[in-house]
Amino acid sequence: MDADAGTDSDYDAERLRLIREVRQRLESLSRAGVETMPRSPERAPVPRPVVAEAAVAAPRPVVEVKVEAPAPAAPTPPPVEARPEPSSKPKATPTTRPKPSPASVPQQPIAAVGSLFGAVEFKSPYVEPADRAEALAVLAAEVAGCVRCPSLAASRTQTVFADGSPTARLMFIGEAPGADEDRLGVPFVGKAGQLLTDMITKGMGLRREDVYIANILKCRPPENRDPTPQESSNCFPYLERQIEIVRPEYLCLLGRVAAGTLLNTALSMGRLRGRWHRVFGIPAVATYHPAYLLRTPAAKKDAWEDLQMLMRAMGLVTPKKKG
Ligand code: URA
Repeated sequence: MDADAGTDSDYDAERLRLIREVRQRLESLSRAGVETMPRSPERAPVPRPVVAEAAVAAPRPVVEVKVEAPAPAAPTPPPVEARPEPSSKPKATPTTRPKPSPASVPQQPIAAVGSLFGAVEFKSPYVEPADRAEALAVLAAEVAGCVRCPSLAASRTQTVFADGSPTARLMFIGEAPGADEDRLGVPFVGKAGQLLTDMITKGMGLRREDVYIANILKCRPPENRDPTPQESSNCFPYLERQIEIVRPEYLCLLGRVAAGTLLNTALSMGRLRGRWHRVFGIPAVATYHPAYLLRTPAAKKDAWEDLQMLMRAMGLVTPKKKG
């Protein structure tokens, strides 16, 4: 699980994916009758380019998928994208992209993943904040009866849906429940969960119950093995729906499996962290999984930088240390 320090050998696949995404977008504009594109200003005024953060991780240049960092304390994401109006119609999502191939990154096209163009790509209508808890409860009940992965359904004690606030500004997404989570039915309650809780509370100065915590898989894979591509693909619509209901302003992708699945990439965490991405148009930060941090304490410094990047965008200040 969460072998976050993967290799950098998928640079070409990532480059091809981006080229293809650009081509698909241009073709789609062409089909819509757009014949010319206005030249963009040399440098549109943007609040805070993330160049400094982007440089943190990359030993060699990564194809530009970074987006501008959201302005501190601004509840809306960067200016490259208009947030959808509550009643806005969901847009169609891309369905085919060349896929990277490590075992834990889904091979099948997943319905909607990070958009290079920052378009919000929700499929379902906006859920009013007051109705989110109920919408999530309905979804949780559906998940509890899920048998899309028959062997996981047979081996699980229970499904592990999520924890936290249905109206959270920030959503953490991990990999899959472990033994403790399977027993208790709550994500991130084991040792890695304790570290995540400390990151949220002591590091970010938030309460755990103010954020929303979910996983790529809702069932525990036996022996804590990586989710298979099929399992990730089967479970993805539930996570997609959770994101759509909660509509967090920011996402934090914990570890290679979550980041690889949601960003549709096989790049290592070393290449993904330290810069902004988008998932369904939502600004997203990828960082090391807490379980990896427990095994590799030297990586905590990088993870803390990632959280601080998130905090700056969210307008959060580091809590003062006691004593
Ligand atoms: N690791 C995860 O990715 N998720 C959990 O819920 C627990 C451990």
